[in-house]
Amino acid sequence: MSNEKKKVEQESGNPNIPYGPSQLPWGKQVPKGADITAPIEDPIKVYPQVPPPDVKGDFPTIDYKLFEIPPTGLTEEQRTKALAALKDFAETQASRFTGYQVNENQKYSPRLSWLLDMHTNNVGDPFQTGLFTLNTKFCERAVLDYFAALWNNDWPHHDDTPAESYPDRYWGYVLSMGSTEANIYGLFNARDYLKGRALIEDPGTEPPEKKFMLADPLPDPGNPNAYTPIVFYSQDTHYSVVKAVRILELTTFYQEGNAKFPGECPITENGEWPEEVPSHNVDKDESGKDNPLSGTIKVSDLKKLVHFFVERGYPVLIVLNFGSTWKSAYDDVPAVNHVLKDFGKEFPWLWNRIVRYDPAKPQLVDERRGFWVHIDGALGASYMPFIEMAYNQGKIDKMGPIFDFRNEAVMSICCSMHKWFGAPWPGAVYLTKTTYQLRPPTTPSYIGSADTTLGGSRNAFSAVVFWDYLSRYSYQDSVNDVLETEKVGAYLEQSLKELEKELQKKFGREVDLWIARSTLALAVRFRLVNPTISYKYTVDSERLWVPISKTEQQERSYSHVFCMQSVTKKLVDELMEDIRKASETDWHNAFPEWDGDQPNPGPTKPITPPVRARDTYRVLVPHKGRGLGSFVHPSKRK
Ligand SMILES: Cc1ncc(COP(=O)(O)O)c(C=O)c1O
Repeated sequence: MSNEKKKVEQESGNPNIPYGPSQLPWGKQVPKGADITAPIEDPIKVYPQVPPPDVKGDFPTIDYKLFEIPPTGLTEEQRTKALAALKDFAETQASRFTGYQVNENQKYSPRLSWLLDMHTNNVGDPFQTGLFTLNTKFCERAVLDYFAALWNNDWPHHDDTPAESYPDRYWGYVLSMGSTEANIYGLFNARDYLKGRALIEDPGTEPPEKKFMLADPLPDPGNPNAYTPIVFYSQDTHYSVVKAVRILELTTFYQEGNAKFPGECPITENGEWPEEVPSHNVDKDESGKDNPLSGTIKVSDLKKLVHFFVERGYPVLIVLNFGSTWKSAYDDVPAVNHVLKDFGKEFPWLWNRIVRYDPAKPQLVDERRGFWVHIDGALGASYMPFIEMAYNQGKIDKMGPIFDFRNEAVMSICCSMHKWFGAPWPGAVYLTKTTYQLRPPTTPSYIGSADTTLGGSRNAFSAVVFWDYLSRYSYQDSVNDVLETEKVGAYLEQSLKELEKELQKKFGREVDLWIARSTLALAVRFRLVNPTISYKYTVDSERLWVPISKTEQQERSYSHVFCMQSVTKKLVDELMEDIRKASETDWHNAFPEWDGDQPNPGPTKPITPPVRARDTYRVLVPHKGRGLGSFVHPSKRK
């Protein structure tokens, strides 16, 4: 094709490309007067196939032409056919879904499907009804109270009185997005709090049009770093936290360390700054024993790093994981709480500092902490409270660390709705305390309630879904459920270990399935399975550098299964049977030696100390791991 023709085609598209269920040429389906573009290429040839081409077996296929929406729309018959294909595909995949931390076991439609036929909206603050009457904020408030009780916060929230009267009462909201929004919101709240910002009433306005002005604090003459928060999070942290740091232009310890204190890092031998706080990352010790802490933040390293910056007058923002994305590990929140309390003796300003705003108004001050601890409990904050109850009832022999507001240092917590509880779409809940809350910048009269949330319009259906779930499960029901999932996790781990032994007998001692599970983790990790098993059970996969000794690391492709409520022993048995069958003649048929174009395991290399960043503003942007879903399918890697 000549360059000229190609250019014209790219500008206006090709009207002869067949499109839609009838595969008529695009141009023939466009009505007069529609100024639109035609496709440049046939989307069927461009988009990924479902299932991918290297998946073998009898799976529902998606014929994409059935789903293309031509300018004429679809006939009733065509739409019914497409929806039947979608239903077959979705129900098949949902029935064997194992690899991600979501619960596929849902029972909402009998009671809630009518709500799909209207628009509800929880715009504005959950505790102010506002003028948008068709909201579900009464459900939302009941949900928030439920979590306030579960996470040991003070409740109910009081909205009609100033924050100073009820400083320890909780505030929070049900988010339209998942924990990603909660992490962004939590860090946003933390940033302004630690920067000493305040919303001050604008003296030039009167209710109901009362306005607030964002005020920055007066500089601290003795401490140039007083209002520069430094962020700390571990290398197992979800990418939404890294994204929040970028959106909010926060400074990590790595950036500030490189810029102002090169070569002075207190936790590395060469003094270079690692990009993130190290996690315990060894799955097994040299004798082959499991490391139950794998995936949790190294509190001793965090302590040294935080001390370095606190000593220099910086406020600190610490994000801890409770149920990390890949390993489902629980950071030791009480240990970090203890560190901050201890530091308070040396640096009292960490727990109480006076922020001043106006030299002419010395009475205009705020008392704040010099730190913020946010708990990313996307997964664990929802079910670990019931593990604790089970432990207290003597039904299980261990519990996780206490992560909630019983730790004085904890200032915000979130968890996702669709993970442990299960929901048709992503959702989450965020809780803090009134005293740490961002005050509303405006009270726009057209909303009639304070603009305290991240979005404008807010998903009101999520509050009902949460409410429905929580109203159907007593605490004791949830205790029984967590005990069951714990059993399923242990069962899967045991089944894999038995299979490993069988395969070793048959194929030799070199069989190593890399089975690992952190303490009380719902995730069980093992060697990458073949693409068909991976697709059939939606087993999540990731290529990672894994320490295999004190000095050496190896590139490995792993799979993992999350034993959520929808993963039963029966489903585990089916998965194990498929793996066993595939291993019959050669164990590498189930656990391929090649992951696409790269060997599994891949090369080894020494564990090297961090090197100095060339650009001091560099921030790590995760492009794989941490639940990004970026694992490139082997068939796509050539
Ligand atoms: C630890 C952690 N934090 C945050 C998130 C993001 O949550 P969501 O997908 O609900 O936005 C995830 C998701 O897997 C996660 O595992």
